[in-house]
Amino acid sequence: MAIFAIVGATGVVGTKMIERLAESNLQVDKIYMMASSRSAGKVLRFRGEDVVVEELNEHSFDKDIDYALFSAGGSTSLQYAEIAEKNGVIVIDNSSAWRMDPEIDLIVPECNTPTLNRKIIANPNCSTIQSVVPLKPLNDRFGIERITYTTYQAVSGSGQGGIDDLLNGQRGEAPKKYPHPIYNNVLPHIDSFLENGYTKEEMKMIDETKKILSLGDDVNITATCVRVPVINSHAVEIDVSFKKDASLEEVRDILKNAPGVVLVDNPENNEYPIPTEVTGHDEVYVGRIRKDISRPRSFHIWCVADNIRKGAASNAVQIAELLESNR
Ligand code: A2P
Repeated sequence: MAIFAIVGATGVVGTKMIERLAESNLQVDKIYMMASSRSAGKVLRFRGEDVVVEELNEHSFDKDIDYALFSAGGSTSLQYAEIAEKNGVIVIDNSSAWRMDPEIDLIVPECNTPTLNRKIIANPNCSTIQSVVPLKPLNDRFGIERITYTTYQAVSGSGQGGIDDLLNGQRGEAPKKYPHPIYNNVLPHIDSFLENGYTKEEMKMIDETKKILSLGDDVNITATCVRVPVINSHAVEIDVSFKKDASLEEVRDILKNAPGVVLVDNPENNEYPIPTEVTGHDEVYVGRIRKDISRPRSFHIWCVADNIRKGAASNAVQIAELLESNR
């Protein structure tokens, strides 16, 4: 029995949060849909019922609410998450605003559990979530020494604006969300550039992986994040080295049995994970598993997941499911 609020209910991730929550076994006694003034009065559906969208404001959490799932951007989270927390609401926040705060849990249910030290729980970056799910059991067994991530990220990760840029670009319209056309293009640029030459997205992958998997300072991680003209589902090429010796068979076996992971790895039949087949699923799909011929104890793992489901909405709902199952 729980009362939910979806903050950013009209957005790409918010819409999927509503859908994923409706699909879950959670008993939802009431649900509030919140968004900006632009959407106030709009009617959304939840499990066959109409729900009117409310404008988010300082008093939105005066009501009796158990969980608020936020996906309305970092500034909205910074402004409202603590107001909700002070009112006793557990906030599951999809933005990057709170993720690296040492007091805040950064949770992927297959990898770690909330301490509830604070009532704000951060949902990690989309590419990070799908990478740590297969890496967790491998780290437990072999110890990660280093990782190089290269991502191929879908436009849905930028919200409706990203999808519009790809579809409108196909008709020759100029981009509004991205600095260059994404249609027929590949942009090595996700989020803003930092002084060290990396983008914020790349540093999120590096820092959040270390936090979720509790990796020490001796573990080196690097990342290159790339936007590709795909509507939905991110791909990540994970190049990982282990501290202990590992055989290809052991790595494949661990991934085959890992929670939340599906192994699709039959290259002889052209079978490997691809975005069009992974979209709509909550699991992380891995394939093309092979030993790196250029260095010892190292493997390549091709990893694809629905960035709006597992990379955002489903992971947030899974955190609520985890908390409810422990109540
Ligand atoms: P709205 O639709 O009213 O603008 P997306 O990432 O797909 O663009 O979605 C962003 C979500 O965050 C939308 O639901 C949007 O509501 C919501 N949002 C954006 N800014 C605010 C704000 N200041 N207060 C509340 N909700 C916001």
